[in-house]
Amino acid sequence: MWEKLRAHHAKVADRRFETLVDEARAADFVAQTGDMRFDYAKTNIDAEGRALLIDLLAQTDVAAKRDAMFSGASINETEGRAVLHTALRNLDGGPVMVNGQNVMPEVLDTLARMERFANDVREGRFTGQGGKITDVVNIGIGGSDLGPAMAVQAMAPYHDGPRCHFVSNVDPADIAGVLRSCDPATTLVIVASKTFTTIETMTNARTAQAWMGQTVSDTGAQFAALSTAADKTADFGIDPSRVFGFEDWVGGRYSMWGPIGLSLMMAIGPDAFRAFLRGGQMMDRHFQAADWQDNLPAMLALVGIWHNQICGYATRAVLPYDNLLNRLPAYLQQLEMESNGKGVSMDGADLPVNSGPVVWGEPGTNGQHAFYQLIHQGTRVIPCEFLVAARGHEDDLHHQHQLLVANCLAQSEALMRGRTLDEARAKIADKFDGDELERQARHRVFSGNRPSTTLAYPQLTPEVLGQIIALYEHRVFVEGVILGINSYDQWGVELGKELATALQPIVEGKQDVAGKDGATAALVGFLQSHGVS
Ligand code: F6P
Repeated sequence: MWEKLRAHHAKVADRRFETLVDEARAADFVAQTGDMRFDYAKTNIDAEGRALLIDLLAQTDVAAKRDAMFSGASINETEGRAVLHTALRNLDGGPVMVNGQNVMPEVLDTLARMERFANDVREGRFTGQGGKITDVVNIGIGGSDLGPAMAVQAMAPYHDGPRCHFVSNVDPADIAGVLRSCDPATTLVIVASKTFTTIETMTNARTAQAWMGQTVSDTGAQFAALSTAADKTADFGIDPSRVFGFEDWVGGRYSMWGPIGLSLMMAIGPDAFRAFLRGGQMMDRHFQAADWQDNLPAMLALVGIWHNQICGYATRAVLPYDNLLNRLPAYLQQLEMESNGKGVSMDGADLPVNSGPVVWGEPGTNGQHAFYQLIHQGTRVIPCEFLVAARGHEDDLHHQHQLLVANCLAQSEALMRGRTLDEARAKIADKFDGDELERQARHRVFSGNRPSTTLAYPQLTPEVLGQIIALYEHRVFVEGVILGINSYDQWGVELGKELATALQPIVEGKQDVAGKDGATAALVGFLQSHGVS
């Protein structure tokens, strides 16, 4: 299935794609839904390449698998689970069946309970020992942290609730810093853990409990839990009225649409949270209905497959020219790399192509003054994914926003065009001549011909954020189906967890280092000699 694409790539790899970019291509090599525009004109994909990529969708049955996902089939085959985060945003959709049961009444009931609780906190009916809740601390890690932490930051212009903080790392510096800034008497602690067993989260939750217990008589009253494990939240002492449950068909990194999004709802209120859900649902409907060539998730995925599996570019940079999306790259690292960083296909065979790419990035324009040097002149090609809003939220600073937009567009232009040796010489001919001119000019050459895409939208509203996140979720799904892998398990995180549990008593000096490899033993020795504590 890959041969035709590889052969096509071999034919076109050396051409300058800049020569393809005219008005017709600018109108054709885009996918658009509502106000959102995904532009992939500045890549080396041409009409033939695109047709071959779209063929992959038919060859791997993406449409049937998409429909299976939305209908509640157990597509997470290694864990025997459905994949139904889409049900959490199915606000006005029909029934969604899992094992013959409609899950929507329960989903909507939990949403309504979250809304009542969030309103009670926001409007001062639910109080701490010291009065109205001023601070909410979400303790969770991975999918129980990255989604809400990213979204709370992204939605800063809409905040009208308590301050929200996030603690994830088992490093005590994380929780200590957050708790120092809060008053226990007016703080609500949300323990967010799908399994309620994750060592980092449970350790931090107990630390928060002890902190609160120093001043608050009934600490349990200022705790809430977001989890699938009702028995464990009860053991922890959290009243069921403040436990918001969800089912195992919601994967951790896909969970911010339900209870794991409670901190976001606290910050922006239930109405804005519903707008976020509506945005996600809009993208679901688009993904289900649009022809492939007009389908944003499908085309985003195919551009990704082209760059990684066909061109061999090992990483992709996500570069939001939208400072509110500061945490989007970190969020996408989990979403994409935990989902598609798999070496075997669904049936256990080795993958015949590379797994998903390394995803990384930083907001523009900060990255321009850090790592763009390598993006422009380094020896490896890094496909760049720009995101940009037409408008910011600062009504008195339009000029600054326009400067931001100009920078975003300039980067994709520079990556495509580059600068030739002749142009470089001409730029400095008044300063140097002879061999020195030649030498200096070579340092100022940009190869260009470096691909990028741009996702443009009017403004980062809750609805647009919902669309963006659902877009990336479905992109991961499509890439996963094409690769033939299970995007919804994460066995690759297990080994490290097991070894950490075994190493803890050794680090603490309660158990001998015997049996460990020499390098690990030596590091334990060094840290112990410095009083590891
Ligand atoms: O270790 C990986 C992981 O299982 C992620 O998939 C998940 O998002 C995270 O840990 C947190 O898990 P939990 O919500 O169960 O604490």
